[in-house]
Amino acid sequence: MGEVKTELSGPDLTQGVGLAAIPNGAMLLGHAGGEPVLLVRGGDEVFAIGAICPHYGAPLVEGLVVGATIRCPWHHACFNLRTGQALRPPALDPVARWRVKVVHNPAPQHMPEEPPAGTVYVLERLPGVDRPPSARVLKVPESVVIVGGGAAGNAAAAVLRQEGYRGPITMLSADQSPPCDRPNLSKGYLAGTASDESNLLRPASFYQDNDIALSLGTRVAAINTGRNQVKLVDGRQLTYGALLLATGAEPTRLEVPGGELPHVHYLRTLADSRALVSKALAARHAVVIGASFIGLEVAASLRARNIAVHVIAPEAIPMERILGAELGQFIRQLHEQHGVRFHLGTTVTTIDEEVVTLKNGERVPADLVVVGIGVRPAIALAERADLAIDRGVTVDEYLQTSDPHIFAAGDIARWPDRLTGERIRVEHFVVAERQGQTAARNILGYRERFDAVPFFWTEQYDLGIVYVGHAEQWDEVHRDGDLEARDCSFTYRRDGKTLAVATIHRDQEALRAEIEFEQTIGLRG
Ligand SMILES: Cc1cc2nc3c(=O)[nH]c(=O)nc-3n(C[C@H](O)[C@H](O)[C@H](O)COP(=O)(O)OP(=O)(O)OC[C@H]3O[C@@H](n4cnc5c(N)ncnc54)[C@H](O)[C@@H]3O)c2cc1C
Ligand code: FES
Repeated sequence: MGEVKTELSGPDLTQGVGLAAIPNGAMLLGHAGGEPVLLVRGGDEVFAIGAICPHYGAPLVEGLVVGATIRCPWHHACFNLRTGQALRPPALDPVARWRVKVVHNPAPQHMPEEPPAGTVYVLERLPGVDRPPSARVLKVPESVVIVGGGAAGNAAAAVLRQEGYRGPITMLSADQSPPCDRPNLSKGYLAGTASDESNLLRPASFYQDNDIALSLGTRVAAINTGRNQVKLVDGRQLTYGALLLATGAEPTRLEVPGGELPHVHYLRTLADSRALVSKALAARHAVVIGASFIGLEVAASLRARNIAVHVIAPEAIPMERILGAELGQFIRQLHEQHGVRFHLGTTVTTIDEEVVTLKNGERVPADLVVVGIGVRPAIALAERADLAIDRGVTVDEYLQTSDPHIFAAGDIARWPDRLTGERIRVEHFVVAERQGQTAARNILGYRERFDAVPFFWTEQYDLGIVYVGHAEQWDEVHRDGDLEARDCSFTYRRDGKTLAVATIHRDQEALRAEIEFEQTIGLRG
């Protein structure tokens, strides 16, 4: 995670600024009491909120105001301007807010039809708003069991409590660590720019404080849908009123001789990342197998540690299927400029202690090997419980599975997506968190549709790509802007219909694309 910036700029808002400086929908960055504060004008109201996104520290002044909300420019979190609350992940904490006073000047007598101008003052910082328990809770399950302590499970547990659910919540996680920020594992943490503490989504005390029984290193072996029970690997049984399956995905294993050697690593959990970081401290030559997002992020992070990196993958152009040939080539060149060597159109045949041998006969030195050849949704429990399966766990628009007591969210869930009109499953952090929240509300009987527009991001060196929408198959890609200057967007269409937009350093455009997609599916007028 990036450090939250605290430099102050703009006017001291406690001294007052003319309302004319903030037209409707506009923002003004300033400060109050030594903290960066953003003044936002929405219609007749003026709001003063913390100017820095609590997720990774983005400047919210570069975001977008939509009604009485503001969206973060980097990873599209959304905050309520009135209460400061984080309405949408990946931000989980609110932004601060300040009291505002508007002093209207009298209208000039010669222009009585003009609205009076005024001065806005930022006063004291307001206390945080405790979200009142919702009056809408219709169903109170006797207990909620969440299988999975990742993005979706973590978000679901927190929302159950925010919405006022007081029954027992048990979160079972096969991971050894509390819910962690997986995207950080291949980026800042592996590169050595983010601390170990930045890996946890919540401090360990959060679960205790919210009476969430978090059981780590605990694997569920089976679900008995007839008895509403889960059976743990250690033989214990737990009864549930409602069950959320959020088991995520598992890295695909590389089945080659030498694939189990100790210097061959996979990256999914915090434990995996810590093991990789400790090996990286001494490694000199790394081979990354797979030119996936994770593989390429790992390559970039290992280069930041000055380790020689070779990337091996069967495709001709990295990321071509998802991002298109032009952007794929650009990403390849970017890595090459940073010293990465690609071996494309080939695969690995054997791994030895110091060498990786390729199908084309090449032998590449490696004292560290990282395999990133994709993931498979962890659906074994759902399959054995006879839940409906379709290359993932089939859920309806409320994220309910074929068993009414069981919901599913995150990497395992295949849901009916309104934008494409298809059932889709994605492996995106923000989608998993948002689905966890929606599933939690539906466990409480809200009947809230999940129709957030899919979103993901990747960071490699100083390049950030943001992707909004979902285009599993597309037949046309259009670039707008200058790729070399890193100021462009790519639009992916099928049969003339826009399905997704990828942007490079055009945050506003990505936010506007998200809003257009929301309009397409009728979420906004
Ligand atoms: C290194 C890395 C980098 C990534 N970077 C990005 C990125 O930049 N942007 C992006 O959008 N996405 C990224 N992702 C993907 C993103 O992290 C996932 O989409 C997201 O974590 C999925 O959330 P989830 O809750 O479905 O599953 P997970 O977060 O994987 O959590 C699954 C949980 O289920 C538990 N579990 C599984 N089976 C059992 C069982 N039988 N019993 C008990 N517990 C079980 C696991 O232990 C774990 O706690 C990245 C992923 C990785 C690994
Ligand atoms: S920095 Fe705001 S959502 Fe990530």
